[in-house]
Amino acid sequence: MKTSSAPLVLVRILAAVACAAGSAVSTAAEVVGNPRAAVAKVEMCIGCHGIAGGYKTAFPEVYRVPMIGGQSAKYLEAALKSYRKGDRKHPSMVNIAKSLSDQDIADVAAYYSQQTVAKR
Ligand code: HEC
Repeated sequence: MKTSSAPLVLVRILAAVACAAGSAVSTAAEVVGNPRAAVAKVEMCIGCHGIAGGYKTAFPEVYRVPMIGGQSAKYLEAALKSYRKGDRKHPSMVNIAKSLSDQDIADVAAYYSQQTVAKR
């Protein structure tokens, strides 16, 4: 009876894959921001929205960027989505927002909303 176990194993694998796919779909329906997942994603934000130094970036010339740490997650999410849609026009933010998925946006919004705001 050894030969009959192979199809059974296959069925189990398929069932497991189906379950995994099912749970992925259900989490996508409700996007919940995970600040821990954002740590790698915010690396590209830090260069411009650095937390120290009065929120200035120095290249190509010194200019100010908005402080995003400590703003509400809803506000940050809405802002990033409007850059992504093109409703807000700043070219570098539009490009950055276009590289972010809904989950990425929820994660970075959760991350920055929890960041303690440095006094200016
Ligand atoms: C190249 C520099 C640069 C990088 C990198 C960058 N930003 Fe920005 N960001 C800006 C500038 C400049 C503005 C102001 C744009 C404007 O006037 O609309 C801005 C605006 C924003 C705003 C709107 C703030 C407000 O108060 O309305 C949010 C939110 C934001 N950035 C989030 C992010 C996130 C999250 C990342 C990383 C995924 C990121 N930014 C990466 C330069 C940058």
